[in-house]
Order: sequence, then structure tokens, then C-alpha cells
Amino acid sequence: MVSRVIPVDPFDLVIFGGTGDLARRKILPGLYRRFLDGQMPEDARIIGAARGEMDTDGYRKFVDAAVREFVSEKKCDSKVLKAFLKRLHFVQLDALGDQGWPDLKALSDHERVQAFYFSVGPSLFGAIAERLHKYEIAGADARIVVEKPFGHDEATARALNESLAKHFAEHQIYRIDHYLGKETVQNLMALRFGNMLFEPLWNAQYVDHIQITVAETVGVEGRGSYYDKSGAMRDMVQNHLMQLLCLTAMEPPSKFEPNAVRDEKLKIIRALDPVSPEDIVRGQYRGNDDVVSYLEDADADASTTESFVAMKLQISNWRWNGTPFYLRTGKRLRDRMSEIVVRFKEPPHSIFEEDTGQTANELSIRLQPNEGMDLKVTIKEPGLGGMRLIDVPLDMTFADALGEEAADSPDAYERLIMDVIRGNQTLFMRGDEVEAAWAWTDPIIEGWKERRDKPALYDPFSSGPEEALMLLHKDGRRWREIRE
Ligand code: NDP
Ligand code: BG6
Repeated sequence: MVSRVIPVDPFDLVIFGGTGDLARRKILPGLYRRFLDGQMPEDARIIGAARGEMDTDGYRKFVDAAVREFVSEKKCDSKVLKAFLKRLHFVQLDALGDQGWPDLKALSDHERVQAFYFSVGPSLFGAIAERLHKYEIAGADARIVVEKPFGHDEATARALNESLAKHFAEHQIYRIDHYLGKETVQNLMALRFGNMLFEPLWNAQYVDHIQITVAETVGVEGRGSYYDKSGAMRDMVQNHLMQLLCLTAMEPPSKFEPNAVRDEKLKIIRALDPVSPEDIVRGQYRGNDDVVSYLEDADADASTTESFVAMKLQISNWRWNGTPFYLRTGKRLRDRMSEIVVRFKEPPHSIFEEDTGQTANELSIRLQPNEGMDLKVTIKEPGLGGMRLIDVPLDMTFADALGEEAADSPDAYERLIMDVIRGNQTLFMRGDEVEAAWAWTDPIIEGWKERRDKPALYDPFSSGPEEALMLLHKDGRRWREIRE
């Protein structure tokens, strides 16, 4: 495989919350990998900012430890790391006060690409945007990157959009959904719009149904106080699964450019039918001898928050009328597996005898692990004995087909940060898109509250509650197994 690293212009990246968990685990190790690949210009600067007592030397030590912990040993080169650490600076500041902001101003340079990563809780977004403006730190072309959760519902998302819009134009705001940075998610667009083979069949006439699964084995992992107020619907469906659904279902954009892609995604969100209660299953994991239950994990007695959700959706447009989309996501499931599966209809008439074993084609697009695509086709079983049909996979696991380098492709965060520096918003959510996603999600959550709905319990490391299996069984269909 040919690796093409396109260098970016000199930039200053300020990470508000530069000492937090996200910065330590994802952002800083990702930046190191870009540096290692030669994508970062010599004079790029990365400036961490937080309230904690620290100076630039201390921050370099902090980043050194983060890189050594979260970058594979193979890629951890001490000489390169030393050179990378020279790019780092630290400014001690309070997002809610005035302390430290003049120091950040002293470092700011409007001639360079400026990116400000808000890796802090959303309650600080407005205050930081205001101070970047007040202290004239952000130049006219500066970009801001905001993390999820982008609001808790439509009203809070709108308020957040309005507070950012006071100081930054929409083309300067990069709302992160890290699923959009995953290699296979982008490959979904290459598959759909770079081939003639699939698009003519990609509609209700030929597709029986589509399944989108994002299964995790982890529990809430010390994030209980956040998670218990969100649940799987707000934490995963409103953003990550919604984005996967949009990219799978949208019409071809006229160009692979930000507004063309985002206009098409928005049309899908707006075409989603409301979901009736019998088409949704909520679940919450039990404990066993090895792992604690959701209630203990989240330290939330008697909580009815869902750690699993499965649902059947309909998109009211010409392309998808009558083709259901089944979505499911949950924690503490059997395996870590994320995939999109397009199940085609069976041929209209079979020329073979009934028991030959003919089934429908299935295209699965695996996001993780073992990124790749797999198309199940029916062929004749080789050998004598008449016409017996078998399904064989046309497997394109990227690591097998393109070499190990493909499997080791950049992490979602590093790809997205480089897009910010390049000024490319295609893989970021627009404000109206986020609001529309909440507008669809809110009534579902409200309905649960009004009905005092309780989640069905499921065993840890299972496929989720029995009721979720029934959601497809009653339509004469079945979920793909959750298997790595
Ligand atoms: P942490 O609580 O680990 O870190 C918060 C950071 O913000 C710290 O560096 C903290 O440093 C700084 N901070 C807090 N208050 C202020 C303030 N008033 N002024 C300046 N700095 C401040 O949070 P995470 O890193 O986990 O999360 C950051 C954001 O990213 C959140 O919005 C979260 O929802 C989102 N996110 C996180 C993910 C993760 O895996 N961690 C995944 C997806 C999204 P100090 O206290 O010293 O000021
Ligand atoms: C985050 C959610 O956005 O995505 C987490 O808040 C979840 O709850 C995570 O575990 C999953 O991301 P990935 O990339 O590990 O599939």
C-alpha cells in the first residue's frame, strides 16, 4: 500500500482541557503519531491549557507519559518523541475567569492557522468562545473544535449553537463525532459513490433491511455520573449511530464537500418517522460473578437509564419506503463489534430446487475490529452431486487485502484534527444537523419518561435483552451475531 502523508500548513493548536482524559488518551497521542508520520510542520505549536498548577516543562513530562502509555511500543521512538515535545507549551488559565488569558494572547499569532480544541465540559464552551474574542486571541480564520455531548436535547443544543455563533461563524465551528473519522465510515462513501456496482441496488426495491450494530464489552467505566444522565440513546444513538445511518441512507451528494454532504445527511434525519414504543427495546446489564451490574457500575441506585437500545426505524422517502433500518447499541455485550449490514432481497424467482440452500446476498461493512467489508454471495458448491448452493464470503478485510499498514491507519481523532487544520468540515456535524438529530430523539426519551418505562435486564456479555431479538423475529428476520 502507498502511504501518502500530505503535510499541513504551520499551525497553533490550543487544547483547552489539555490535561484531561480525552487529551491524554486520544488527542496528544494522535498528534504525536501525525508528527511521527511527518505530517506536522517543524514550527507547529501545541498549547495545553487548564487551571491546574503546571508549566511548560511539567506539561512536556505529562505528554511524554501519555504518549508512552497510549502509543504502541513500535511507534514510540524516543528521538522523535523528544522532538515532538519541543512543539508543546502550557498556559495555566481558568475558562471562567480572567487568569491566564493575557498569557495565551501573548502566544497568539493571527498569521498562522489557529485551532482551539474545547476538550472540556460543554458548560465551558460559551465562556471560552467569549474570552477568545474578548482577548483578541482568535483571528478571523480561527477554527474551534467542540466535543460531544453537544447539548442534552434540542433546546440545549440550540442554546449552545447560539452561544458559539456570537463569536464564530458556522464555517469556523467543528463539531466532533469521532465515528466520522473512522476509516471504514469514510470507506462507506467510497464504496457507495466510487463504484457502479452497489448504488443501483441501494434502495427499497432491492434491499430487504439494514442493520447497524455498535456493540461494546466495556461497562460505564467510571463515567457513571455522566452516563446515567445520558443513557445509550443520548450517548450513542443521537450522534454515532445517527451518523452511520445518514451515510448509509443518504442520496449521493453532488460533491464530496462539506455542505453538499451535510445537506444530504440532514434530509435523512428530517425524513425519519417517529418511532412507536413497540419498535424500541431498552436494556440494562445485570452483574455476575465477574462484573458488577449497571446500577453498581454507575453508582446509581434504582436508575432506569438504558445501557442498551435496539430499534426499528423507517425513513419516509422514495428510496427507502418500506425498508426497515434496525439499530442497536449497548455496553457489556458479548463482543466489541461495530458493523453496518445491508441485507438484499432474495431473487424474485428461483430456478433451483427448493432445498438447494439459496439465500439472500448480504454486504457487511465492519467498522471495528478487523476493519473491512464482506459480501456474501451464493455459488454452486464445487464437485459432483448436482446443483447444491452455498454462501461464500467475498472478504476484504483491509489488513489482509492491503497489508498491515492499512490496519494501522490513523486513529479517528488524528484524522479529524488534521482536517481541522486543513479547514475541511466534511466529516464534522453542522449545527442544524445536530439540532435535527435531537428533535427526533427528544420525543422518544420524553415518551419513556411519561410512561415510566423500565429497561429490560440482560446478562453481561450476552446479545442484549431477549426482547431485542424479538424485534426482528416478529418481522421474520434475525440480527447478525455479535462476534468479533
Ligand atoms: P476531564 O474531566 O478528564 O478533563 C477536563 C479538563 O478540563 C481538564 O484538563 C481540566 O483541568 C480542564 N478544566 C476543567 N475546568 C476548567 C476551567 N474552568 N478552565 C480551564 N480548564 C478547565 O474530561 P475529559 O477529558 O474526559 O472530557 C473533555 C470533554 O470531552 C468533555 O466534554 C467530554 O464529554 C468529551 N469527551 C470525552 C471523552 C473521553 O473519552 N474522555 C470521549 C468523548 C467526549 P483543570 O481541572 O486543571 O482545569
Ligand atoms: C463515546 C461514548 O462517544 O464513544 C462512549 O461516549 C463509547 O460511551 C465510545 O464507549 C465508543 O467509541 P469507540 O470508538 O470505542 O467505538
